[in-house]
Amino acid sequence: MDSRPFRSVLYIPGSKERAMDKARGLAADAIIFDLEDAVAIDEKANARTLLAQTLATSDFGPRAKLVRINGFDTDWAEADLDVITQARPEAILLPKVNAAADIETLAKRLDARAETADTHIWAMMETPQGILNAPEIAAAPRMAGFVMGTNDLAKELNCRFRADRLPMQYALQTCLMAARAAGIVAVDGVYNAFKDGDGLRAECEQGRDLGFDGKTLIHPAQLEIANAVFAPDDAAIDLARRQIAAFDEATAKGLGVAVVDGKIVENLHIVTAKATLARAEAIAVLQGAL
Ligand code: COA
Ligand code: MG
Repeated sequence: MDSRPFRSVLYIPGSKERAMDKARGLAADAIIFDLEDAVAIDEKANARTLLAQTLATSDFGPRAKLVRINGFDTDWAEADLDVITQARPEAILLPKVNAAADIETLAKRLDARAETADTHIWAMMETPQGILNAPEIAAAPRMAGFVMGTNDLAKELNCRFRADRLPMQYALQTCLMAARAAGIVAVDGVYNAFKDGDGLRAECEQGRDLGFDGKTLIHPAQLEIANAVFAPDDAAIDLARRQIAAFDEATAKGLGVAVVDGKIVENLHIVTAKATLARAEAIAVLQGAL
């Protein structure tokens, strides 16, 4: 799962039939079908049934399909799992994960079912305990990705919203470090003001610069910006190609380093350059299939 693009990860409430239908034509790399906080308590049971039916009968193409179930501290989690796993989503996203034990509880449930032999687990990182335990959570069984739950985290921290997200930096970077140490995907939190494109772009750029693979989104209007910001742009692709060519030339001359645009290029830069080209290729393949 970790070689595929996760630039744009769109939340859709499992209760909204029209939005789910619309998603089949949207340029989202991944979809989180939500049964947790986007679904009202009175709607929980209906949303679960509707989502299971939708997943079983609708074709979402190459978009990664994740289902966010309710947590095991609620009355809904077991029923969510019973119904949703039959529709075989690629991953279950567990909310408010505090420790590796939470992941192990879910992994045991998945181990017990034949249809979920290959189902991945993703974790919402949105509680202080979860952030402090990020390394053990990332390394837990079946783990494939972190989603930053910045709204819940802001509530728990009692921090203020700032455009530079200074209060969030510890959590963002701790989770990113843990995700990279374990080799899993890391996706940034949502930008609430879904009509503010400039604000979204700035926050996407910050997340990208930190190293996130993409951003969770709440509205289709946010897709284009996230897809653009988290893809290597033409300049990055051009630089990667020139670095690889210059390094090949240097190697042929028996040299271990090259210089491109006045900057040193060593083997480690070539690893990054090749990863950039591979990511651009994977994005082109995905976009072609949407
Ligand atoms: N995914 C897919 N389609 C969506 C969508 C989403 N997340 N949000 C809106 N749409 C669709 C609507 O169905 C509508 O389609 P239509 O014109 O064919 O009817 C279109 O996009 C425009 O929607 P709009 O009227 O601008 O939005 P809204 O006022 O209906 O809803 C929100 C705004 C924020 C309530 C809605 O976008 C939403 O529910 N987002 C997801 C929230 C969520 O999942 N939160 C949990 C994690 S933070
Ligand atoms: Mg949350």
